[in-house]
Amino acid sequence: MIIQTDEELQKLKKIGSICAIVLRDMMAACRPGMTTKELDELGGKLLAKYGATSAPMAVYNFPGYTCISVNEEIAHGIPGDRIIKPGDMVNIDVSAELDGYFGDNGASFLAGGGDKMGQRLLRASKEALANAITAASDGKPLNHIGRAIENTATRHGLKLIRNLCGHGVGHTLHDEPEMIDNYYDPSDRRKLQKGLVIAIEPFISEKENMVLQSKRDGWTLYTPHGTRAAQFEHTIVITEKRPIILTLPE
Ligand code: CO
Ligand code: CO
Repeated sequence: MIIQTDEELQKLKKIGSICAIVLRDMMAACRPGMTTKELDELGGKLLAKYGATSAPMAVYNFPGYTCISVNEEIAHGIPGDRIIKPGDMVNIDVSAELDGYFGDNGASFLAGGGDKMGQRLLRASKEALANAITAASDGKPLNHIGRAIENTATRHGLKLIRNLCGHGVGHTLHDEPEMIDNYYDPSDRRKLQKGLVIAIEPFISEKENMVLQSKRDGWTLYTPHGTRAAQFEHTIVITEKRPIILTLPE
């Protein structure tokens, strides 16, 4: 969506901050030995406390309040009886709706510490998101987002998942513009404009550049060779200067 009024901005800020608080508190509560279901139940309780509705559940009938993906699971992991182990790469993605407006954010972390490669993935992915946000302003080509992400991955000697992308958000979870590639596509002629609300979500990976969808559960996106990736996601509003980040805890 493109924001037209201050009221819309305030409502987006409200749901954005709820998504950020739920994500932050879920990350803080995550301990090795927990199941992803237990973690998701906390997410569901927190969303309810703030009066928000899980977007994946409401919009797509997803079997969980949040998506929790571990190691070879890269996105859309279904919360269940999988026990989080020390050193696991865990991704939590929280998207929710309040009063007709949606927010979407996500983060990866290593449960109880982790290895060097895991830390490198986290660093690179966080940096890719920051660089992509910096590259986004009114009038700039939309593909500057993907260019910033791809350049960051390359600089770190890492790959990126090419068949996962960012997206517009606002009145719906997946709004116009539909595909915001995480790599540089010179043929993409779209331009960013003031007031546009988008979610940017790079997935930086160890070795693989695509995910497949599980035939077993119809949801989980995983790497065919089981290598890991890290994702960070924010919902932002394009302005003439730096974007406004909507998914911040305050
Ligand atoms: Co998203
Ligand atoms: Co998300």
